[in-house]
Amino acid sequence: MFSSNFVALALALSNVLLASNALVIRRDDDNSDSSSFEGFAFQAQVTQKENKQGANNDSLMTITNESNMEYVGKVNVGGHDFTLTIDTGSSDLWVTNNQKAKITNTTSTNVNLTYGIGSADGNIAYAPVSFGGYRIDSQAFVNAQKVVDQDGQGILGLGFIGLSEIEQAAKDKKAQPVMANIFSQNPSTPMFIGLALERSQDGEDTAGGVISVGEYDPQFSKVSGSPKYPVQPTSTSRWTISMSGLSVNGNSFALKSSVQGTKKGEAIALIDSGTSLAYIPEEAVEAIYSPIDGAVHVKNKDQDSWFVPCMSQANVSFTFGSDSYPINPMELTTPVTITDGGKQYTVCLNAFRAPLNGKQVDMDFLLGDIFMRNVYSVFNFGNSTTPGDDTKTASIQFLSRTNKDQVYQNFEEHRKESLKAHPPQFDLTKLHTDGSSDDGGHLDPQL
Ligand SMILES: *[C@@H]1O[C@H](CO)[C@@H](O)[C@H](O)[C@H]1NC(C)=O
Ligand SMILES: *[C@@H]1O[C@H](CO)[C@@H](O)[C@H](O)[C@H]1NC(C)=O
Ligand SMILES: *[C@@H]1O[C@H](CO)[C@@H](O)[C@H](O)[C@H]1NC(C)=O
Ligand SMILES: *[C@@H]1O[C@H](CO)[C@@H](O)[C@H](O)[C@H]1NC(C)=O
Ligand SMILES: *[C@@H]1O[C@H](CO)[C@@H](O)[C@H](O)[C@H]1NC(C)=O
Ligand SMILES: *[C@@H]1O[C@H](CO)[C@@H](O)[C@H](O)[C@H]1NC(C)=O
Repeated sequence: MFSSNFVALALALSNVLLASNALVIRRDDDNSDSSSFEGFAFQAQVTQKENKQGANNDSLMTITNESNMEYVGKVNVGGHDFTLTIDTGSSDLWVTNNQKAKITNTTSTNVNLTYGIGSADGNIAYAPVSFGGYRIDSQAFVNAQKVVDQDGQGILGLGFIGLSEIEQAAKDKKAQPVMANIFSQNPSTPMFIGLALERSQDGEDTAGGVISVGEYDPQFSKVSGSPKYPVQPTSTSRWTISMSGLSVNGNSFALKSSVQGTKKGEAIALIDSGTSLAYIPEEAVEAIYSPIDGAVHVKNKDQDSWFVPCMSQANVSFTFGSDSYPINPMELTTPVTITDGGKQYTVCLNAFRAPLNGKQVDMDFLLGDIFMRNVYSVFNFGNSTTPGDDTKTASIQFLSRTNKDQVYQNFEEHRKESLKAHPPQFDLTKLHTDGSSDDGGHLDPQL
């Protein structure tokens, strides 16, 4: 009756630019009968981006090769396969304009989708869309003509109708998002998606993942008994939930929220597969990295980064309801290359960062892939009769995949392994908080 609709996700690597695909708001049931997974194996993509600024300037320490890890899946739009970012932080589908995709019709309605990083602008068009064994005969999407700071071929937004810029601009129910269409066309499909984002053997990079519609990945079926964290606040149109704790080395960090209506001592967290890292309040960043011996906080008008000794770790966990979800210490820092006086070194930067533009709307914590790799997550769309429109009964469930003691034990070995491929570590005792170094160099403001 119900087939497995599993889409394997692959890793796209590029440099310097990090993805943050939470949307910024400015105002044929083709299930074949297979009982095994319908997996699609994709290749990892590596996009090289040169950091031009600072090149040939001996006094600038240039940071390069910060990996941009994005989970992407193959989605067929108008008969053409696109590799799209799987994004729980937005609701719309867009693809880069491509002559090979057969578009059913194009409208004159223009939409400029703006994300935490980057934007995609174009007209609303309609075409058949299929992925993971599902097919939508007529799906609205943005046929992007102008794309800014976005790698790849587009985004598959998995959010609610209420966050859809396309539906709002088209003023037409037929322009609703992909998941709403899938659930309306397949009334017997339970209205949830499950997401498993993988980490590679050496623990540093990602190794694809699995998304399923209406059923749990058998490996993580225990998640069905996990508590349901209701989507909060009640007015939200996002996959945000209330976070009740953040613990660093056994000390709890006092949460407060800038989102109206949040309970005292709690904060609102967006669970966003389209964001590589995490953007959290400045004080929370400080709480995580300041206890680490030898960590240097470089803060000036151009940047706000913690340079952390690569081999150090901390015990960080996030609490939802009364359950704690530990973070693998591999996720706390990310090794990047620094060029200083023509020589290459490795530095490890904080992966939990202060918000991109100083503040975030609708949320206090934006938890991207570095959080999601620690859990199996289920996004329940609620039980209303209008699929994809019901944040009142919608919820998120997690099943922890990180065994705190084990990851702590394995960290040293995994990190050493991952650093093998990198240049030697930069001596952080030479680095000053204003970004200058004892050698007379200065950090490239590019970062
Ligand atoms: C090198 O960088 C320094 C510091 O930002 C800047 O003052 C200087 O003008 C740069 N030199 C060149 C040749 O670009
Ligand atoms: C960046 O990574 C590429 C491929 O991994 C490598 O060839 C290149 O040397 C690296 N650049 C720096 C500055 O580390
Ligand atoms: C395009 O297709 C959609 C969905 O079938 C329909 O609602 C819309 O009216 C069509 N637009 C035009 C201009 O034909
Ligand atoms: C879309 O909006 C973004 C952010 O405001 C802007 O940077 C970009 O230039 C806009 N794109 C177009 C085509 O207007
Ligand atoms: C819908 O969900 C709410 C909250 O979980 C629950 O109280 C209600 O009974 C559900 N209704 C149906 C028809 O399942
Ligand atoms: C982190 O937890 C491990 C046990 O899982 C413990 O051995 C270690 O001392 C803790 N580290 C810190 C900094 O609290």
